[in-house]
Amino acid sequence: MRVLITGGAGFIGANFTHQTIRERPEAQVTVLDALTYAGDLKSLAPVDHQITLVRGSITDSDLVDRLVAESDVVVHFAAESHNDNSLDDPSPFVATNLVGTFTLLEAVRRHGVRFHHVSTDEVYGDLELDDPAKFTPETPYNPSSPYSATKAGSDLLVRAWVRSFGVRATISNCSNNYGPYQHVEKFIPRQITNLIDGVRPKLYGAGLNVRDWIHVEDHNSAVWTIIDHGRIGETYLIGADGEKNNLEVVRTLLEVFGRDADDFDHVTDRPGHDLRYAIDATRLRQELGWQPRFTDFRSGLQATVDWYREHEAWWRPRKAAVEAKYAATGQ
Ligand code: NAD
Ligand code: DAU
Repeated sequence: MRVLITGGAGFIGANFTHQTIRERPEAQVTVLDALTYAGDLKSLAPVDHQITLVRGSITDSDLVDRLVAESDVVVHFAAESHNDNSLDDPSPFVATNLVGTFTLLEAVRRHGVRFHHVSTDEVYGDLELDDPAKFTPETPYNPSSPYSATKAGSDLLVRAWVRSFGVRATISNCSNNYGPYQHVEKFIPRQITNLIDGVRPKLYGAGLNVRDWIHVEDHNSAVWTIIDHGRIGETYLIGADGEKNNLEVVRTLLEVFGRDADDFDHVTDRPGHDLRYAIDATRLRQELGWQPRFTDFRSGLQATVDWYREHEAWWRPRKAAVEAKYAATGQ
């Protein structure tokens, strides 16, 4: 099977590429990545002799057409992914998440290639903190940020291309991932690397916002399950019942580092900050038989802390610039 992975030098895409090489030796893997600030060739170093890497944008229709024509399946991770950046400058989010997805869809339409679109639970907006409800595939779209609005738009493009043009596509909407190779701008790696540096973790607002954490390996095993067994045109929600508020996550990290439970700072909140995400993954579990393996959040977090301790050369070059950018907004 010839697999084209977009965004394979980013956090989830790199882990997906590693998992594919490890578990599917017959796969011929090509990674298409623009190597933006979020992409890092070092993330692919463990597999660089086993893949073909193409540096380029998913908005480049000639390049995309050529690569899609040579593929059996396209797994589409490439995106501008960080909410805070989308509040600062939404334009690359529109270009990559909307125009880039459109460009890929046109290519898979021309060449009849199977397409899997990796999306987010943020397309559904947020839930109240005291609401027992979770997101389901029937929850109406209600995105809050420029990031989530462009991801919602990209999902709707995929649905339209399935219905109108018969494109063979599936969509997955996953909750918050953690694990190795995550950019230090994101919540968990930012706090881990702060603690390694002896800096207090930074909590937006009161820290009561809830995210539904899943290990990146579990997200990626679910994506392969959907590619292998999912129904064309279907949307699958991916989650592992990992709801925690941000304060709980910071307190767990402080405990792992042997620091005092109150050794953190409250900083300026994110504008429009979604309160709570929660995934009901019943369809994925019951219809496709998928199950997560990383069900103990504390040990998954401990392993992630160990990874960042052992891979300082991977994250250190980006840390100062990320912190300078946050400092400018009081975060
Ligand atoms: P990331 O920011 O770490 O990586 C994105 C990758 O896409 C980078 O390698 C970057 O260079 C590449 N890229 C950006 N623009 C590109 C372009 N125009 N052409 C080609 N490549 C380009 O993102 P991530 O956290 O790994 O997220 C991957 C996907 O998963 C995204 O679609 C995101 O919406 C989705 N997702 C993420 C999470 C999460 O918790 N991080 C959860 C659910 C869904
Ligand atoms: O839900 C899936 C989404 O999860 C993905 O679609 C996005 O690509 C991914 O970035 C993530 O979005 P969030 O905005 O939830 O993730 P982030 O890591 O930016 O923040 C997680 C929570 O932590 C959020 O409530 C904001 C808060 N936060 C974040 C940072 C960076 C802090 O309290 N302090 C921080 O320093």
